[in-house]
Amino acid sequence: MHIDIITCLPRLLESPFSDSILKRAQQKELVTVSIIDLREYANNKHRTTDDYAFGGGAGMVMMIEPIDRCITELKSKRQYDDIIYMSPDGEMLTQTIANELSLKKNLILLCGHYKGVDERVREHLITREISIGNYVLSGGELAAAVVADAVIRLLPGVLNDETSALTDSFQDGLVAPPVYTRPAEYKGWKVPEVLLSGHEAKIAQWKYEKSLERTKNRRPDLLRNS
Ligand code: ADE
Repeated sequence: MHIDIITCLPRLLESPFSDSILKRAQQKELVTVSIIDLREYANNKHRTTDDYAFGGGAGMVMMIEPIDRCITELKSKRQYDDIIYMSPDGEMLTQTIANELSLKKNLILLCGHYKGVDERVREHLITREISIGNYVLSGGELAAAVVADAVIRLLPGVLNDETSALTDSFQDGLVAPPVYTRPAEYKGWKVPEVLLSGHEAKIAQWKYEKSLERTKNRRPDLLRNS
């Protein structure tokens, strides 16, 4: 899989891809991620990529020209499955969408900043819009990192324990059960006996019951939606 992230603030995206699972996924060549500086596509000497909004109002708007030039150049090299604009009014990111995107070959994530992009970008240049929640961030960069992380960890071979992504919260419509590690008793607080029993079927049953109970208590919306 290849992911291009277009941003006018590339430094914001350096660290999420240089550590831990996302770094390892790139080292194993399971994914390539390019952070593309939109300023390289500006055709003015100050390399500005934004301008005042027509009709007035506070805040700058990202211009269509550099974005179009950038996307056109990328499309001349690869065929993209989706060109995604990160936006608070986009489709809400869910595990289902992450699963779906993890099956794609090439993706572009376009990060907005300031007041967002010229509407014509949304009308003509992108194929999809994704939000990571009902709140407004300063820009799409952190949202793009969230989408990339949720997707990349699902690629086969990225996680050491292949079954680990399958047991994540939301993967089966339920939140994950509680987990414990050593010591089996701490200050008198004990790990549930069944987890120490070695009885696989009983443990699986316990985990399922706890997942269900936790989902009912904490995220009943997930049960209503399924
Ligand atoms: N850009 C600003 N806020 C955002 C959000 N909540 N989701 C995606 N992109 C954004």
